[in-house]
Amino acid sequence: MEYIALCALGLEKVLSNELKKMNYKIEKANDGMVEFLGDDYDYYKLNVHLRTAERIFIKIGEFKAETFDELFDGILDIRLSRFLPKNGKIVIDKVRTAKSSLYNQSVIQSVVKKAIIEKLKKEYNLKFYNEEEGIYKLRVYIKRNKVTLALDTTGEGLHKRGYRKLVSEAPLRETIAAAMILKAGWKRKHVLIDPFCGSGTIPMEAAMYGLNIAPGLYRHFSFELWYNFDKKRLGKTKKEAVDSIKYTDLKIYGFDKEYKMVEIAKRNAENFKLDKYIRFERNNMESIKLEYDEGYIITNPPYGERIKDKKHAEKIYEQMRYLRKKYPKFKYSIITSHEKFEEFFGAKSDKKKKIINGKQTLYIYEYK
Ligand SMILES: C[S@@+](CC[C@H](N)C(=O)[O-])C[C@H]1O[C@@H](n2cnc3c(N)ncnc32)[C@H](O)[C@@H]1O
Repeated sequence: MEYIALCALGLEKVLSNELKKMNYKIEKANDGMVEFLGDDYDYYKLNVHLRTAERIFIKIGEFKAETFDELFDGILDIRLSRFLPKNGKIVIDKVRTAKSSLYNQSVIQSVVKKAIIEKLKKEYNLKFYNEEEGIYKLRVYIKRNKVTLALDTTGEGLHKRGYRKLVSEAPLRETIAAAMILKAGWKRKHVLIDPFCGSGTIPMEAAMYGLNIAPGLYRHFSFELWYNFDKKRLGKTKKEAVDSIKYTDLKIYGFDKEYKMVEIAKRNAENFKLDKYIRFERNNMESIKLEYDEGYIITNPPYGERIKDKKHAEKIYEQMRYLRKKYPKFKYSIITSHEKFEEFFGAKSDKKKKIINGKQTLYIYEYK
């Protein structure tokens, strides 16, 4: 079976590394998509275990099309009964086109849906296709006239782990926080400090990674609504994940100047019973006193889209020089939408990585 894992643009390498660790061989990785081969039911474990993927698709078919007729015929050439049942609700969830002759999304949507129903009727020898049982969400990507039809196994994006009931004003996406931690090379034996923790996303993701808690353990997936859903298999996948949790002491600290934020972060940690593993404290970045002189500072300081907020953020970056002076042996990984962060922080990063997450562009600055 061919799979596509979706991630924020720029995180393909981190996601590929996660997949390689799970013994998958990467076929392709670009444009926020990582493609690889796997067994028929691998989407159970992929959804449960991947930290930086946003969604897992089964690639149903791929073909060239420059006209609507070619689009229709291309779908007719795919053996759809391998993936879709004789009475499922077929939803064309999203259409994305780039540099292609076909671009009218709503027409593409209806042509693809018509062709799918036509083909399923033929394959199942039906007069009518009744959309009665289970929901099957499909996406159509058309890039340079190459059509990819993909079946979404995930549903609500994988960043929704379930612990973050309350958020800060500018919460960081859980999958991106996880990517920062993996990319920085933090391991459970190391100290991790987030001086601008907000609702605690970075410390939470670190604690889950440090204890080997699978991020999808406490949530549901869209494949649970399919006719062939194997409850026992998902139960077994989750049980194996639970059995591989390694409870151990962690040195993870989150600080924020807002008392309210610290309370929210604590509550989020309690939701996943991680409050024992993370220390959240109200403190200004400027007055943090650490009992360590080595470790990782992984953080998401304020950035502000409005000019006034941006100026304020720049001041904070200047004040962050203090951290680096006081804790020079720490490794730093900082994420912000500010393209000139380094100027204010007063040091050129060893690595700068651009991440595009929907409409938002972010940069990860790493200092080794
Ligand atoms: C972009 S938010 C962090 C969001 C967080 N990553 C999350 O997912 O919720 C920045 C945080 O920095 C805090 N903050 C701003 N200035 C600060 C300072 N001088 N010291 C400590 N915290 C500060 C704000 O209260 C805010 O919660």
